[in-house]
Amino acid sequence: MTSDHKDEMLIDLESGSFRAEIFSSREIYERELENVFSKCWLFLGHETQLPNELDFLNTYMAEDPVILVRQEDGTFRAFLNQCRHRGMQVNQYDFGNSPVFACPYHGWTYGADGALINVPMEDSAFPKCFDKGKLGLREVPRLEIYKGLIFGNWDGDAESLTDYLGEAAYYIDALFDRSPAGVEVIGGIHKWTIDSNWKLGAEQFASDMYHVALTHGGVVEAMTPEDVPVDRRGFAANPGKQYSALKGGHGSGFYLSDGDDAIIASILGPRVGEYYNTTLRDQATRRLDRVRGELMGSQHMTVFPNFSFLAGINTVRVWHPRGPDAMEVWSFVVVPKDAPQEVKDDYRRGVERTFSPAGTFEQDDAENWLIIQNTLKGYQASKSMLNLQMGLGMASGGDPTFPGTVGSCYSEEAARGFYAEWQRLINENQ
Ligand code: FES
Ligand SMILES: [Fe+2]
Repeated sequence: MTSDHKDEMLIDLESGSFRAEIFSSREIYERELENVFSKCWLFLGHETQLPNELDFLNTYMAEDPVILVRQEDGTFRAFLNQCRHRGMQVNQYDFGNSPVFACPYHGWTYGADGALINVPMEDSAFPKCFDKGKLGLREVPRLEIYKGLIFGNWDGDAESLTDYLGEAAYYIDALFDRSPAGVEVIGGIHKWTIDSNWKLGAEQFASDMYHVALTHGGVVEAMTPEDVPVDRRGFAANPGKQYSALKGGHGSGFYLSDGDDAIIASILGPRVGEYYNTTLRDQATRRLDRVRGELMGSQHMTVFPNFSFLAGINTVRVWHPRGPDAMEVWSFVVVPKDAPQEVKDDYRRGVERTFSPAGTFEQDDAENWLIIQNTLKGYQASKSMLNLQMGLGMASGGDPTFPGTVGSCYSEEAARGFYAEWQRLINENQ
């Protein structure tokens, strides 16, 4: 690979600036596929999306199509969705249940364990040296699970998922381990493309509370019931609370609520608001701690590189890269397994209203990202330096309550952490 950017500082963490072309350069993108997406733990699915043996889910690791399969013994394995004959996808169903994957091109058939089990005209048309045993689907060499979240890694020598998540686990638990019955995915997966670089989504969910008041201000105002006092209206009514930049490029941010999170009721409706206030908060306080149970309302998070969620609102997403200038967003909803059905339905409807492809908040964000990407078609614009200084030098570590480097939620500390890890990886082996 040519490396026009070899040894070049793309992210200057000391001065707080970075090259705009990290969002548009094809050469940088190729390095991401090799050094980020082939080295990091990538989210594949949630256990509850494959409840039965032989359930499968088609997903992606970056641009590579991957089939996640629950085996007959209940464990999970993941395979590259590429026939070993001419490379056709052996499975084109989004999800389902099947003991075999039969390639639609010439009929090579693979078992749920990836083994090649049948080849049409094998005896009459193939030489003696043809060995089905060596032609199983390529398996993702590492697969590990954290709190129901299934991750895969192409790097067989990668550190364990637990070590990789590190400090991030505390914040992941605030959504995925807050109720004793566990959480489950409900409904299907929304999938849509945005002609913008994947990092615009991933970085925003890691770090960016700053955009909410302006980008989403109109929606927040429109959704807030009229009887909510002015000083409690909208996200801007919660200035200066917490965010955390975490080792490994993960990032999270959240407002510390006063124990009554009006934002959740505004977005998801009064039934979910009441359930949150009367049941979920107490459950999480007992299971986790008071901070995550009572205080951490409306949390955003990215697990490096491209798995994100909003706890409280409970929308979960993956930013699958599709070239330097496009991403495919996958999004679904999780709910406490033991919530009443009408509460689950309200979660789903509330997220569809706000964070689905046609959702109010989602469209606000996509509009910004699209115009940023369009601007980068300009030569001068692509060569610009952009600013990354908010909160520079103003955060501190060692907070006994919150892992990571902690400070005001109006800071880009977590974005700097995200890009520091990104830069470290893409500069490897150059
Ligand atoms: S490409 Fe799959 S059988 Fe030929
Ligand atoms: Fe947003």
